[in-house]
Amino acid sequence: MEVQVLRRLFETLYVFKYSPSARMHIFGYLTGLFFYTAMPLTLCCTCAPNVFKFGTSEVTEFIVKDRSSTQAIEFDWWDFVNPFSKLGWCQWIGAAIFLWGWIHQHRCHAILGSLREHVGKVDEYVIPHGDWFEIVSTPHYLAEIVIYAGVVFGSGGADLTIWLLFGFVVSNLIFAAAETHRWYLQKFDNYPSNRVAIIPFVC
Ligand SMILES: NC(=O)c1ccc[n+]([C@@H]2O[C@H](COP(=O)([O-])OP(=O)(O)OC[C@H]3O[C@@H](n4cnc5c(N)ncnc54)[C@H](OP(=O)(O)O)[C@@H]3O)[C@@H](O)[C@H]2O)c1
Repeated sequence: MEVQVLRRLFETLYVFKYSPSARMHIFGYLTGLFFYTAMPLTLCCTCAPNVFKFGTSEVTEFIVKDRSSTQAIEFDWWDFVNPFSKLGWCQWIGAAIFLWGWIHQHRCHAILGSLREHVGKVDEYVIPHGDWFEIVSTPHYLAEIVIYAGVVFGSGGADLTIWLLFGFVVSNLIFAAAETHRWYLQKFDNYPSNRVAIIPFVC
């Protein structure tokens, strides 16, 4: 999730071309700041003690080896790869779902970021095409839901905090998607009739 937060920062700075008149409600701004700070910490706080224990034992071992031997310290690849072999099928499928959403969200953000380059106006809105835009109006929101579904799957579905996080993201984005879809229908007479707001072939 930390990688996701960094990618979103990069896209906000270099991919999106925000219109000069674009404004964000202060409540939304503060919620976003709080969400993107608290969410990664919430997700990592359960495993942080284990990571800390593992890190300190590795450092201690390194120091002891260094004092007791003059030989060059070897990097053991097995120590690095071994933790991955302990992951269950839930974690691997969760990671695949996460990556699937991640790739599509990046593609859709690139499409949104390129729309104004084509029309040459910094505050113009056009109908986006390509990738998941062909089936829904807000594929970047759909991809965000897929990303969080990957986290839920990877956690094994037993962590209440992750379900609450997922519930917050889904309800927030479905509401925003419905508004965006309504706006597209009002603004463009030629808006593709097969597109729905966010859930393909449903709504
Ligand atoms: N986890 C959560 O709860 C949560 C909540 C909100 C957002 N997000 C994620 O944050 C990401 C960005 O969301 P957002 O709501 O900021 O996206 P957005 O409102 O759709 O806008 C993204 C950028 O694309 C531009 N744009 C959008 N539609 C356009 C069109 N038809 N023609 C030309 N330009 C267009 C916008 O222009 P303007 O500058 O004119 O607006 C803005 O610069 C999404 O992937 C979303 O999933 C997550």
